[in-house]
Amino acid sequence: MSRFSTFVNFFVTVFKIEMTYILGIETSCDETAAAVMYNGHLLSNVIATQKVHEQYGGVVPELASRAHQQNIVPVVAQALSIANISKYQVNAVAFTQGPGLLGSLLVGSSFAKAFALAYNIPLIAVNHMEAHVHAHFIEEPKPEFPFICLTVSGGHTEILLMKDYFDKELLGTTLDDAVGEAFDKAAKILGLPYPGGPMIDKLSKTGNPLKYKFPVSQVDGLNFSFSGIKTSILYFVRDNLKTYANFIQDNIADLCASIQHTLVKMLTDKLLVAVNKTGVNRVAIAGGVSANTYLRDTLQQMSKIHGWEIFIPKFEYCTDNAAMIAMSGYLKYRTGQFSSQEVVAQPSI
Ligand code: KG4
Ligand code: ZN
Repeated sequence: MSRFSTFVNFFVTVFKIEMTYILGIETSCDETAAAVMYNGHLLSNVIATQKVHEQYGGVVPELASRAHQQNIVPVVAQALSIANISKYQVNAVAFTQGPGLLGSLLVGSSFAKAFALAYNIPLIAVNHMEAHVHAHFIEEPKPEFPFICLTVSGGHTEILLMKDYFDKELLGTTLDDAVGEAFDKAAKILGLPYPGGPMIDKLSKTGNPLKYKFPVSQVDGLNFSFSGIKTSILYFVRDNLKTYANFIQDNIADLCASIQHTLVKMLTDKLLVAVNKTGVNRVAIAGGVSANTYLRDTLQQMSKIHGWEIFIPKFEYCTDNAAMIAMSGYLKYRTGQFSSQEVVAQPSI
């Protein structure tokens, strides 16, 4: 840590000074994003979504890093401009260290390191999955600790017991695919474009969630497994196509609704076990899949039945964004958790 960071750290912790502009940068996958936060209040939140991957049915890592390289400077400039501050006013820069695609992470981490060096400000490395949870602290209502958080994205499916901002216990995780991956792979089988989750969500609205049943693998405890359902959808669709060429087109809404119902049920069944096991009935959801309307509705219903206090983030804070990185960065800034220039991007942390 530099002498400057030590100096800032000392004043921040001893005098609890609150006059902080944090620039947050997110480049873990295929969204180039930047946000500015002032004393924990969000001033701007800019996202450049990379459309280039749609035609390939998934994120192409090489193309993602190139697009980040093109987008990062204009996206940061726009975030500063919307926040109405100059780059000289930024007090600290927070960036996604990982998990994510290495080439994508390198663009954001290199940019953040150069920015911190150029303006002699602290650098803060943020864990992307932790930031998804910290998205709950951007706006009211903010959950009190302890709370259970179902963190569901394209690469992770976790049930966490959050005891404090940076004190968590992993209660359950997936043994193979993440639930977002299951949504995306199911969509691909149905011939839908990437990312599949939002498409399945949309098409499900007019479908019957109970029309088709897909066998799911039973996993003990609070862990998950999503590889079995992907295979059962594949075989089910393939078998029907043998005798009925338009099977997918004619039943797309029912297929989507039934797949979505199965995946969401797998999540919420375990969530119920987690609440019963811990006795903590404050429940939150986070990550890209928490944008799923059926999951959100199901959680609302469960909160009424079981008397849970629930926390559902705004749509813009569910999928990848830099507001959550700035938020996590701000929480680290307040507790003096800075990084040195030697910090490196970590695809799997
Ligand atoms: O958190 P996120 O944006 O990126 C990662 O950290 O992975 O999550 C992306 C995942 C993708 O698998 C995408 O299909 C899924 O979130 N997703 C959804 C919805 N919106 C995004 N899945 C189901 N329903 C949605 N509405
Ligand atoms: Zn994410």
